[in-house]
Amino acid sequence: MRTIIEPFRIKSVEPIRMTNREERISFLEAAHYNLFSLDSEHVIIDLLTDSGTSSMSANQWASMMRGDESYAGSPSYDRFHKAVYELMPFTNIIPTHQGRAAEKILFSIIGGKGKYILNNTHFDTTRANIEFSGAEAIDLVIAEGKIPSSEHPFKGNMDIEKLEAFIKEKGAENIPLVMLTITNNSGGGQPVSMENIKATKYVCMKYDIPLFIDACRFAENAWFIKMREPGYENVPVKTIVQEIFSYADGCTMSAKKDALVNMGGWLAMNNAEWAEAARNLLILTEGFPTYGGLAGRDLEAIATGLEEVIDEDYLHYRISSTQYLASHLIEAGIPIVRPAGGHAVYIDARAMLSHIPALEYPGQALAVEMYLHAGIRACEIGTVMFGMQANGTEVAAPMDLVRLAIPRRVYTQSHIDYVIEALTEINQNKQDLSGLKIVWQPKQLRHFSARFMPLNLKEKQKENFSKAFAASL
Ligand code: F0G
Repeated sequence: MRTIIEPFRIKSVEPIRMTNREERISFLEAAHYNLFSLDSEHVIIDLLTDSGTSSMSANQWASMMRGDESYAGSPSYDRFHKAVYELMPFTNIIPTHQGRAAEKILFSIIGGKGKYILNNTHFDTTRANIEFSGAEAIDLVIAEGKIPSSEHPFKGNMDIEKLEAFIKEKGAENIPLVMLTITNNSGGGQPVSMENIKATKYVCMKYDIPLFIDACRFAENAWFIKMREPGYENVPVKTIVQEIFSYADGCTMSAKKDALVNMGGWLAMNNAEWAEAARNLLILTEGFPTYGGLAGRDLEAIATGLEEVIDEDYLHYRISSTQYLASHLIEAGIPIVRPAGGHAVYIDARAMLSHIPALEYPGQALAVEMYLHAGIRACEIGTVMFGMQANGTEVAAPMDLVRLAIPRRVYTQSHIDYVIEALTEINQNKQDLSGLKIVWQPKQLRHFSARFMPLNLKEKQKENFSKAFAASL
């Protein structure tokens, strides 16, 4: 049999409320054309993020019932610790409420002015936490990683030559650590090869710099290694995961991705001095070191999730479902970042809507139309997100993408077929789409709350829009 099916049955369901285009127009107007401001009940298929949106298994729910909520020394912490240690055997494993909490603690300890943190590509919260500490975040992904049409199998790889050159130029003493983000979310969910992880570690060892892994999607990355890297075809995913972490000195983790839970994370490391400082900060901001911002039941759900996420039937289905979406979009002539990432497909909206200039936000225009046409919510990753400069001017981002992030174990193939049909129809009438302008924006992180006005509004609609806008202020 060649058909790949969802390797689970559905025991508990959440209804999806169907809406029509007219209803969606009014919901979107009320949200000022910002998809983050929509009520999720008004969304049919939600592809905004794969973070914290997984379905938990019956076993995870069962584990939660044995969660021990003691303030200190909970057996749930022991089960969490054992499950993490089995895959990532660091001597200090510190739970946090999510990934960015681990980042905040880590960079508060080792960041600061004059320091550089090197990564294939920093995720935005990682970059923000590094910059908040006063340090600089440097991205050194290979050149192919920035070319949407390049079919390189490991587009998340670190550029080893640039890495070594940067260390030589700035001095190892100014680089407290090097990171590898697996998979590389900001670069299209692209994996890093084992060979590249080893080469990065080799350079780090040469200059005595610790290597940390941003481990959010470690299991998806391991599956790509098994599928694409010669010599790993017959190695169990669990062994691949263990090998990855054997080259690292620590990691940050958002359990909201590859631990299959809705909330949680951790910070892990071998350096005892850093770990002591981290635990001291943890008590200020998260909680006691055996729960760190999580309930005992959350720790249990993570422990069980970590066993399930390395199941090869699950990973086969997971990566195949993303590839299924990607290959149908390619067939429909829609330009996407190639090859498909692990957790998401990224549409190249600038190429698709080439008649919309970058400063009229082709990514936002596509995301808005996906919602109006079919109630699908996706996320612009382009000029709206990155175009505003610190000096208040606006420039086009390097790319205008729309990310279709696939929640884990949530949607069936027919849901994905619905997305493919919607995008195919939008693509057929793409010349009718026009851009937007921003009518209000906050000082920072504008994509979350900026208000937009479509540029093709008719006079009457504009008048209504202005009145509604004035009333909302
Ligand atoms: N690192 C990576 C690579 C991420 O993708 C994320 C979150 C984080 C760190 C931060 O983790 O959300 O638990 O604090 N990514 C989400 C996304 C938000 O939609 O891609 P967190």
